[in-house]
Amino acid sequence: MTDRIQIAPSILSVNLGHLASSLDSIKNADYVHIDVMDGHFTPNLTFGPEMVRACKGMTDLPLDVHLMITNPDETIDWYIDAGADLITVHYETASHLNRVIEHIKSRGVRAGVVLNPSTPVCMLENIIDDVDVVMLMSVNPGFSGQSFIEGTIAKLETLAALCRAHGVSPLIEVDGGISPKTIERVVAAGANLLVAGSAVFGAEDPASMVDELRRMGEGVLAGNRE
Ligand code: DX5
Ligand code: ZN
Repeated sequence: MTDRIQIAPSILSVNLGHLASSLDSIKNADYVHIDVMDGHFTPNLTFGPEMVRACKGMTDLPLDVHLMITNPDETIDWYIDAGADLITVHYETASHLNRVIEHIKSRGVRAGVVLNPSTPVCMLENIIDDVDVVMLMSVNPGFSGQSFIEGTIAKLETLAALCRAHGVSPLIEVDGGISPKTIERVVAAGANLLVAGSAVFGAEDPASMVDELRRMGEGVLAGNRE
């Protein structure tokens, strides 16, 4: 088990007119999280590969690209070519999940699978051995600023048991409603890579909020070791 907690601020919560300075304000983060939404899988429409390319030119942080699109099999290379360092693909969207995961990895990019709040962890049984990251949505995909769905905690516990049974330790990412109010419980349940949009970019000092979230999460891990 890792003793590090990583924080991935989501630019969905940024005023895009100030994207460069917003990215500058979170240099102490571990990833930049980019929410790609197509208006079909999600009720919202956001960024494409050009946003990934633009961020690549504005930050040295690795880019965590969250694909909420109906056809990841067809367009995955756009995001790899644009500079993604980690790509997560929704279980609900990929008709050939194993193929798309293997393709991402074959191009030297870390690959992850995402589950919507209503998709059970057991669906990971035949992909868990192959992924670098598993991400659980703790809100329904589409918007920042939604409330954390409590059922995520039980799903994290089930996921930890599945990982133990398979002898694997992918990064466990959680996305949606992460803030100082929720981070300790998700870390206690096994998460170690936390997406935070409104909590970070809505804070007066985004860098301090990144440090605070990481400190709170790592405090839980330190407590577990005592
Ligand atoms: C929601 C996105 C999230 C969103 C999180 O569909 O995938 O990444 O930006 O925002 P907060 O942290 O505000 O819930
Ligand atoms: Zn996201």
